[in-house]
Amino acid sequence: MWRSLPRVSPPTDAGAADGGIDGIAGNQVVGAVAGVATKGGNGSLAGYGAMRGYAAIEYIAGKKSLATRFGICDAFDSKDSSLRRRAVQRIAVANHKGGVGKTTTAVCLAAALVERDKRVLLLDLDEQGSASDWLMNQRERAGAELATAILHGTGLSPLVQETGCGVDLIATNELFHAFHVEAQSEPGAEQLLRDAVEALEPRWHYLIFDSPPSLNIATVSALVASDFLLVPVETKFLSLRPLARIFQLFASVQKRLNPELRLAGVLASKVRGGTRHCTEVVERLRKSFGEAVFKTVIRDSIRVGEAPGHGKGVTLYDPGGLGACDYRALAAELEARLAEELPAKARLRKNASIKRAANG
Ligand SMILES: Nc1ncnc2c1ncn2[C@@H]1O[C@H](COP(=O)(O)OP(=O)(O)OP(=O)(O)O)[C@@H](O)[C@H]1O
Ligand SMILES: [Mg+2]
Repeated sequence: MWRSLPRVSPPTDAGAADGGIDGIAGNQVVGAVAGVATKGGNGSLAGYGAMRGYAAIEYIAGKKSLATRFGICDAFDSKDSSLRRRAVQRIAVANHKGGVGKTTTAVCLAAALVERDKRVLLLDLDEQGSASDWLMNQRERAGAELATAILHGTGLSPLVQETGCGVDLIATNELFHAFHVEAQSEPGAEQLLRDAVEALEPRWHYLIFDSPPSLNIATVSALVASDFLLVPVETKFLSLRPLARIFQLFASVQKRLNPELRLAGVLASKVRGGTRHCTEVVERLRKSFGEAVFKTVIRDSIRVGEAPGHGKGVTLYDPGGLGACDYRALAAELEARLAEELPAKARLRKNASIKRAANG
């Protein structure tokens, strides 16, 4: 069963010296990414060292003692209903590797959640504007308006548009490049998106960010503004090694900017059934990331590839097909995971507010 979502920490040099993170020798956690990035490494930090400075991942994988040590509490006093108050769940779909299925997952997952009677807002943070093109003919100035709204705090609400498939959208386009340029001279710019989305009315159950194929300020902002990270991985061998970097960013953001950020999961995408290569890659992912890998995999399907041309998620475009089936399963699995994680997150939030109050 899925356990409390793993908190990820970067390894320390000291840990590397004695063969384990923070002195936890033989930790399978370290092997999680080391194993991926070193082509099946042995879970030791020697393997990690071979990663040419890439971060390893500490993957707690259901070990309660470690989870406690790292401040993740499974137990939660369900009597405290105020802590169960749910805000919008914010999910960053991110992986700096290009073409792995980020946009497809952001759009099709959003549409599948709508089918489950959830209200979903999709915020396109990729200046390629793929999600925006998919769901509507975007406004000419969409990217510039989005950049202004984030940088100058003028509010995201006027940018929300309804789309034909029930998902609400904040669109973008190449003019969003202005955000990258201006953010460079704006201290703390990576926090501005969080401020902007927190100012939105809580009209949605989910806010999903589609991120660009880069570890740029837009991706960092998405992680800072999110409760959860979802990482789609194309099931190809060359997709594995770059994973170390997105998880390094995850660990840094979690440590410095957004302690509440959790891993929703790693999603195997574009899985070609029956090919040995895909099977091996999925196995490798499961070996390395354990239960963090969604049980659902997204199979390669022509219909999924066609859906953008029809302005719909695949669940509407081809309701009875493989892609619809997979994205529905993903939506169900994700909701189940998040429901399990909410108590732990509420506890963290409570601890943080106690700390803030104590510090005056
Ligand atoms: N399950 C699938 N079956 C078939 N084609 C798919 C599937 N998932 C994605 N694709 C196709 O793969 C290509 C890349 O997908 P997508 O645009 O979602 O990736 P991305 O990670 O968002 O790319 P980028 O990094 O450029 O933003 C698209 O042509 C898309 O239609
Ligand atoms: Mg994309």
